[in-house]
Amino acid sequence: MGSDNVAIKYELIKVCKQSGARLGRVHTPHGSFDTPAFMPVGTQATVKTVSPEELKAMDAGIILSNTYHLFLRPGHKLIERAGGLHRFMNWDRAILTDSGGFQVFSLSAMRKIKEEGVEFRSHLNGDRLFLSPELATEIQNALGSDIMMAFDECPPYPADYDYVKQSVERTSRWAERCLKAHARPDDQGLFAIVQGGMYEDLRRQSAADLTSLDFPGYAIGGLSVGEPKDVMYEVLDYTVPLLPADKPRYLMGVGSPDALIEGSIRGIDMFDCVLPTRIARNGTCMTSRGRLVVRNARYAEDFGPLDPACDCYTCRNYSRAYIRHLIKADETFGIRLTTIHNLHFLLKLMQDVRQAIMEDRLLDFRDRFFAEYG
Ligand code: GUN
Ligand code: ZN
Repeated sequence: MGSDNVAIKYELIKVCKQSGARLGRVHTPHGSFDTPAFMPVGTQATVKTVSPEELKAMDAGIILSNTYHLFLRPGHKLIERAGGLHRFMNWDRAILTDSGGFQVFSLSAMRKIKEEGVEFRSHLNGDRLFLSPELATEIQNALGSDIMMAFDECPPYPADYDYVKQSVERTSRWAERCLKAHARPDDQGLFAIVQGGMYEDLRRQSAADLTSLDFPGYAIGGLSVGEPKDVMYEVLDYTVPLLPADKPRYLMGVGSPDALIEGSIRGIDMFDCVLPTRIARNGTCMTSRGRLVVRNARYAEDFGPLDPACDCYTCRNYSRAYIRHLIKADETFGIRLTTIHNLHFLLKLMQDVRQAIMEDRLLDFRDRFFAEYG
């Protein structure tokens, strides 16, 4: 573990002898969570349709929220006056906030990247706005998240070598500016984000630049942006070993069951993704037998649970036919039920991954999981 005056500490519990995956625990000012961990996404200071009590019952130890969205609405100053993001949303466990870099690139129109920062238009009302490393840091300091992310540039896929090289160098300069602007290092940990696209030497350069600055944790960004899964796994194979073993490693934007397992095998400790909550809202469920589209007509008179192998609140109490009816009738309770199930499914998957690491059998677990899930 690191020195005492840092907000985030990583405790390595054991390494899986079969796979090399890490079982650990991340300690934050709002409690500890076991890793590898999946972080449900609460973009607008809420994990859509689910209460904090329900998230706790599902064993979520940390959730993610977004600088970009909270800056636009309701504004970080308002949240600061409310007593910080934890108080504002009544969540007393850990929160990680993404820096806004990625959302500016994926959501807003007309963005201009300059050395100083990024000019963009709000996706809500078209207002001209500007986000910089200093402002992204100030916003996250005001929100009071336990883990803050450095303001980075996530290049599109594919992107040519020279473009990605420029963006890696800018991301390193921006990370240093975030570190300088960070006003609360004793109670908030600032993680850096390794970029470099699909280029090994650029990943190497990015990791070398950022690890020399000694952040309390490191993320791998710029993946799950449309590249084939094999390419992502190959990038992880050479990037994860570039990161310090005594700090948490976070793979951003990844949350499909196969990628959570493959990422864990490669030494990743933290993941986030909108996938379980987003697909739940169009009636798609993750089950032990693969994806199930409960809207489908074939479930109209299926009175069994979404997943017979699941013991979540939804599966213990409601049928496929009922949930299908609610969703088709646009009743919000329907998407609450599928959201609860999908989050439970992924959080339980991560519990199973941790148990398999503990027992040195994560590769066996993967093979059995894929045989069933498909
Ligand atoms: N979310 C998913 N990928 C990324 C990334 O590369 N950077 C940031 N800031 N957030 C992400
Ligand atoms: Zn369930």
